[in-house]
Amino acid sequence: MNRRDTLKFLASFPFFTYLGYDSLLYTMSEVQQRSIPSSGEKIPMVGLGTWQTFDVGNSSSGRAPLKEVLRLLVEQGGMVVDSSPMYGSSESVVGDLASGLKITEQLFMATKVWTSGKQSGISQMNRSMQRMQKRPMDLMQIHNLQDWKTHMKTLQAWKEEGKIRYIGITHYVESAYGRLEQIMKTYPIDFVQMNYSIASRESENRLLPLAQDKGIAVLTNRPYEGGSLFRRVRGRDLSALAKDLACDSWGQFFLKYILSHAAVTCAIPGTSKTKHLLDNLKAGKGRMPDSSERKAMVGLLNTL
Ligand SMILES: NC(=O)c1ccc[n+]([C@@H]2O[C@H](COP(=O)([O-])OP(=O)(O)OC[C@H]3O[C@@H](n4cnc5c(N)ncnc54)[C@H](OP(=O)(O)O)[C@@H]3O)[C@@H](O)[C@H]2O)c1
Repeated sequence: MNRRDTLKFLASFPFFTYLGYDSLLYTMSEVQQRSIPSSGEKIPMVGLGTWQTFDVGNSSSGRAPLKEVLRLLVEQGGMVVDSSPMYGSSESVVGDLASGLKITEQLFMATKVWTSGKQSGISQMNRSMQRMQKRPMDLMQIHNLQDWKTHMKTLQAWKEEGKIRYIGITHYVESAYGRLEQIMKTYPIDFVQMNYSIASRESENRLLPLAQDKGIAVLTNRPYEGGSLFRRVRGRDLSALAKDLACDSWGQFFLKYILSHAAVTCAIPGTSKTKHLLDNLKAGKGRMPDSSERKAMVGLLNTL
């Protein structure tokens, strides 16, 4: 019996009918998925960032909790892991742990090229694939647009040759939006990655509608503003609005705001903790806020 059949079976009992099919569905459901427009392939809407959090080198005590984070990510219906050669040992840590867990093929691995020059880019990307132990690499992104014209040519050739499955570009500050926009309009890229949070909403004005218009998948980085959003709510009880949206943490509240934008394909909060990973994945379940609730969420943030 698959998950859906199990749900239907359980829902036929009076006790579960009393509980409500919706709440049962919520508890047992998987993280919602969105399609990558250029291929139609579906990926879960909540993934995992690895900046700083996975840069633990060979330390076995540092790697142990991260192994559990990766194992749970896949067990709970997640898939996307974002890294970069800029993140110290993170690529190797992800690659080694995923291989040890035998989940390499279940993960949708994204990394980046972060250097200048054609040959230097090629060497770095080959090294990243070796470190992450993933061939073809699912998504190769040009990190912060560094030497993007040079790397774009390599990425287009590599995609045709089957060395990578998708091409992306990334940035994390508003001052780069104009350049992201130009590339999105001119090049056949599959993904764009940008910062987006309930507190940083500039991308809603042009970039996100453009991504929708052009059929470009969106990964959103810094969904918690690097963690600083939590300082705004420290010591505050969850609002009635958050509870209404079936959030049982502020983290879920912040993430649901992002995930409820139709252009967003996947948010990639970084964490090294299983508790936080589960919290983040839960934001991808249940109903998402509608447009008036999204306005109310921002209104609430402004009072904090
Ligand atoms: N230019 C680029 O391409 C670019 C730039 C920036 C980021 N990124 C990518 O985007 C990812 C996300 O951005 P980020 O890591 O900078 O910032 P973030 O995801 O906004 O915040 C990460 C921080 O939030 C904490 N956290 C995560 N989940 C939590 C939860 N449920 N409850 C409480 N605290 C929680 C983490 O600490 P714990 O470890 O304690 O959970 C960590 O300190 C990066 O890891 C990276 O992969 C890409």
